[in-house]
Amino acid sequence: MKDINKKKNPAFQNRNGKFRRESDLKILEAKREWEQTFDAIPDLIALLDKKYRITRINKSMADRLGMHPRDCLGLTCYECVHKTNTPPPDCPHTKTLRDGLSHSFDLYEDRLGGHYMVTTAPLFDSDDNITGSVHTARDISKRVLVEKELEKTREKLEEKVKKRTVELKKTHEQLLHAAKLSAVGKLTSSLAHEFNNPLMGILNILTELKKESLSEQAQKNIDLAMDSGNRMAYLIRDLQNFNRPTSGIIDSLDLHEAIDEMLRLSAKQIRSKRIQVIKEFSPGMVRIQAVSDQIKQVILNLLSNAIDAVSAGNGKISISTDMKKPLVTLSIADTGTGIPPSDLEKIFRPFFTTKSIDKGTGLGLAVSSGIINKHGGTIDVKSQPGKGATFTITLPISADKSIP
Ligand SMILES: Nc1ncnc2c1ncn2[C@@H]1O[C@H](COP(=O)(O)OP(=O)(O)OP(=O)(O)O)[C@@H](O)[C@H]1O
Ligand SMILES: [Mg+2]
Repeated sequence: MKDINKKKNPAFQNRNGKFRRESDLKILEAKREWEQTFDAIPDLIALLDKKYRITRINKSMADRLGMHPRDCLGLTCYECVHKTNTPPPDCPHTKTLRDGLSHSFDLYEDRLGGHYMVTTAPLFDSDDNITGSVHTARDISKRVLVEKELEKTREKLEEKVKKRTVELKKTHEQLLHAAKLSAVGKLTSSLAHEFNNPLMGILNILTELKKESLSEQAQKNIDLAMDSGNRMAYLIRDLQNFNRPTSGIIDSLDLHEAIDEMLRLSAKQIRSKRIQVIKEFSPGMVRIQAVSDQIKQVILNLLSNAIDAVSAGNGKISISTDMKKPLVTLSIADTGTGIPPSDLEKIFRPFFTTKSIDKGTGLGLAVSSGIINKHGGTIDVKSQPGKGATFTITLPISADKSIP
């Protein structure tokens, strides 16, 4: 380097005793500088000819292949790198040879131990004919790893968002349900109160009228009017029950005793329809903390729905309990008419009923689901139309102190 700058002597002697011109030495020096630069670049670089042969290779690439640069020259890149007899299907060198443009693609190469972004840029001779390409491979393993971690985190996040959305939707539905129930409750109790007094007055007048000596037809008409009046009274009683204040006191409740008590209350209907009742009570059942009269109301409603659904003479109602701490479950299954799929989501709505006016008001399940939700439990239904329905209640053994 020092000698090259000696301006006064145009020619110098090299180690072999041969003389070189200063310009030749500059070219040689520039070549060495370029080779050193080429070798210092951490990217894997090779020059490839049209037959995919390596004509130059930098140190990084030869090192990564575990070879000396000299031994790589003349070998095809696919033999050397991929250990195959043909180039890979997406080979960017093939594309560059075809269209004279730059191409790149990402690949995982076991032999190079990682993920690489491979780029090829065309090489031309002085007549602008393509002679090959500069093939650069950049190690992107770390980036790929980070991307994979990001992808996993994104998937986990999406999963969490989905779960939270479902929870929020459920909470929202429960709130709507509770709000509806409370609005319906207020309306029905005021209506029931307003209607009850005049209705009682009408029924009293009809009873008095019946004592008069009227024609047979008039007596029949009075009977019809009294029947309708009594139906109205029944409906009003139902509406008042809907808003009936409960004790609201959390107590220790024996679920099996509560079921037996409600079965005794329903005994008359069970007998008259000759329904077979099967009980499968869990032997180790513990007492649960709950508002007893509310839970009994739920059981009674499920029982009367099952009784209504089965046909007289061959109906069956199975009542089973189970305990999986911290929860207990109660299932009431019947062999009745079942519920069409289109009605399944409607049956918990206030006033949804398929029964005649004197048989049901459609409040039983709405109230029941409100009660069970307040206890921190769930109420589910499964049904096959024509085969029956199963209602399953899940309740926590320990209640939250704040059940309203
Ligand atoms: N076990 C069952 N089998 C078939 N259908 C049922 C059953 N339980 C409920 N249903 C359907 O769900 C509707 C709503 O039930 P829900 O208990 O809320 O009201 P209801 O029984 O009609 O009237 P209410 O309980 O107020 O007297 C019923 O009318 C019926 O169509
Ligand atoms: Mg009912």
